[in-house]
Amino acid sequence: MADPIRILIAGGHGQVGQALAHAAWPDDVRLHRPTRADLDLTSATALAEAFARTPFAAVINAAAFTAVDEAETHPDEAFLANADIPARLSEATRRAGIPLVHISTDCVFDGALDRPYAEDDATAPISVYGASKRTGEVAVLSGNPRAAVVRTAWVVSARGRNFVRTILDAAVSRPELAVVANVVGSPTSADDLAGALAALTLAMIADPAAPTGVYHCVNAGEASWAELAAEALQLAGSRTTVLPIPAADRPAPAARPANSRLSCERLTRDYGVTMRDWRAAVADIVAELQLQRVAP
Ligand SMILES: NC(=O)c1ccc[n+]([C@@H]2O[C@H](COP(=O)([O-])OP(=O)(O)OC[C@H]3O[C@@H](n4cnc5c(N)ncnc54)[C@H](OP(=O)(O)O)[C@@H]3O)[C@@H](O)[C@H]2O)c1
Repeated sequence: MADPIRILIAGGHGQVGQALAHAAWPDDVRLHRPTRADLDLTSATALAEAFARTPFAAVINAAAFTAVDEAETHPDEAFLANADIPARLSEATRRAGIPLVHISTDCVFDGALDRPYAEDDATAPISVYGASKRTGEVAVLSGNPRAAVVRTAWVVSARGRNFVRTILDAAVSRPELAVVANVVGSPTSADDLAGALAALTLAMIADPAAPTGVYHCVNAGEASWAELAAEALQLAGSRTTVLPIPAADRPAPAARPANSRLSCERLTRDYGVTMRDWRAAVADIVAELQLQRVAP
């Protein structure tokens, strides 16, 4: 029997990491999802030992400091996870001669454009989180010639902490929810993202000359936070209504791009990956959450 294809998933127990574990991989793929206690990603020695022990075919980096507001007051932690760890993974994967698929964010943009962002639009982060993620992108791309940076946005799922779950939980006790209406983005199912990441990773493993660089991966269509909330509530059959408010009424420590729509054309062109509309994805998430409530 042929050797299995071993893929290391850094941050494999976060929201996207769990979705990667649930994705439909071929039978010969083995996912390795060490916890922080199993593998210290900040240690070049620990990484070298892990790579010496296991012949990984690729690494997917889903590890990150994702508390956007907290990053403003904890920049060292944010840069450690979002810039230093990607740099180490880039170096380790380059040495091993394997691809690195690194997940990044819409927050590398300032949101000033009035159209969806393309991969080569200028980055201009407006938060510590965004700056740390952009530094990580640069480290990944300069460290390993077989690297892909996959920017996603507004990730939601039936697992982990995310906007759809927060809204549906809040709706249980409140007849009206005030939600920001003048910020638009690309809601993205963690499961759909994981499917795309799996396809991209397998293609990069199979072909050492596969295209590299920056890719955007979000569900199709666009929404404001208020529209996303209203859709989730309607799908759940909730009577709670959405009160649209401006972002200025909901001040937060970290600035967010007012427009963070991403165009995924490059992913479709290079890898044939297309993403379905966000409404269909949210419908699946709400249905899964309802099943969880019936059979916890
Ligand atoms: N969520 C979104 O809306 C969104 C939007 C755009 C882009 N992204 C990007 O998508 C990727 C995955 O995000 P997510 O939503 O899955 O985040 P998440 O649920 O917060 O998971 C992040 C994972 O990273 C691990 N981690 C953090 N710091 C670490 C460190 N110093 N050493 C080792 N592991 C560390 C965490 O481990 P512990 O469980 O031990 O803390 C966790 O497993 C990230 O690159 C993020 O920037 C997310």
